[in-house]
Amino acid sequence: MNEPFLFPKWVDGLKPVVGAGLVCGVLYVVVVVTFGFAPTATDVGYMPTQPVPYSHALHAGELGIDCMYCHNTVDRTAHAWIPPTQTCMNCHTAIHPKKSMDPSNPDSEDKLSPVLTSFETGRPIEWVRVHDLPDYAYFNHSAHVNRGVGCVSCHGRVDRMEEVYQAERLSMSWCLDCHRDPTPFLRPLDQITNMEWKPDGDFDPATFAKQHDIRPSTDCSTCHR
Ligand code: HEC
Ligand code: HEC
Ligand code: HEC
Ligand code: HEC
Ligand code: HEC
Repeated sequence: MNEPFLFPKWVDGLKPVVGAGLVCGVLYVVVVVTFGFAPTATDVGYMPTQPVPYSHALHAGELGIDCMYCHNTVDRTAHAWIPPTQTCMNCHTAIHPKKSMDPSNPDSEDKLSPVLTSFETGRPIEWVRVHDLPDYAYFNHSAHVNRGVGCVSCHGRVDRMEEVYQAERLSMSWCLDCHRDPTPFLRPLDQITNMEWKPDGDFDPATFAKQHDIRPSTDCSTCHR
């Protein structure tokens, strides 16, 4: 398992051997180094500029819209899914924060206009990815959110973010720290998207872990397949 990751060690020993295999190996290492260690993968605080100033603090925080209203595949699939423009238009067909309607918020019409344009043309909004693991690492949302790990444990207080940024390291050791001892991070299954939930007397994570037989694997093949 994970032979490719050992390339750096044998590359030195193989220097005299000039062959297609080695060239591929070196290319592989370059790819891993370029993408695996790119700022998007490990930089806490990474916050790319988005095409629309969409605010989680407003929608998920103030308005209290549940995470799964928009990210509605998290509990069923590996990926969380960014909502299509239609989801925004469920409300914004009626709610146009216009200058005349809201004098305290003179820029709001402009803020929404890329959404209206996307809806008219059918061209999706090109959201920029914030979290992006290297391709050689496998992650699965449903495996976590159906087993008592909440969004806030990995994404921080998204409900307070005007713009989403990466809150945690998402490094291998970060994954493993929790996989070795997940109990402190567990919560009731109906509190997965609740960012305010705090451990209380009514919920005993150790009992929950036992009942649900929660034992995250630390085998290489769990995350590198
Ligand atoms: C009204 C729809 C909506 C709701 C509700 C919503 N989101 Fe989002 N979310 C989006 C959109 C659109 C994006 C892409 C733009 C961006 O990154 O801000 C996004 C992006 C994200 C990202 C970054 C994705 C990436 O590119 O890595 C995370 C993490 C996230 N949301 C988590 C949450 C959590 C947690 C909640 C609940 C507290 C939530 N969202 C509620 C629409 C929503
Ligand atoms: C459940 C209803 C609802 C949904 C779904 C929704 N919004 Fe909103 N949105 C609102 C409300 C309410 C406001 C505040 C209106 C105001 O300021 O007058 C708002 C405001 C906005 C603003 C203007 C913010 C400002 O500061 O002026 C933008 C931009 C926006 N939404 C984008 C989006 C996008 C993009 C989506 C889809 C990912 C979305 N909204 C989904 C209800 C919604
Ligand atoms: C155990 C940690 C963990 C939990 C819990 C978690 N996420 Fe994520 N999330 C990640 C990682 C890691 C990525 C990057 C995945 C990748 O690059 O393949 C990600 C990516 C995303 C994305 C970008 C789209 C995608 O799937 O790559 C969105 C949106 C998102 N998460 C929303 C949520 C929401 C909403 C919840 C709660 C219902 C949640 N996440 C729970 C770790 C987590
Ligand atoms: C806060 C705790 C926590 C963090 C952080 C976390 N995990 Fe997990 N992970 C779990 C739990 C709990 C399970 C479910 C174990 C079970 O079902 O017995 C799980 C399960 C998984 C599974 C499914 C295993 C299987 O047998 O199908 C994969 C894959 C996985 N995690 C990958 C990752 C990766 C990759 C990261 C880092 C980017 C990560 N996890 C970060 C707690 C966490
Ligand atoms: C719980 C998930 C998980 C398990 C288990 C896991 N890894 Fe990883 N690994 C990751 C993630 C996520 C990354 C990417 C980290 C990043 O982007 O910095 C990674 C990166 C790597 C890298 C690239 C260099 C580095 O350290 O970042 C190597 C090599 C590696 N893993 C080897 C292994 C080996 C060998 C095992 C078994 C002993 C293993 N991994 C088990 C999640 C895991």
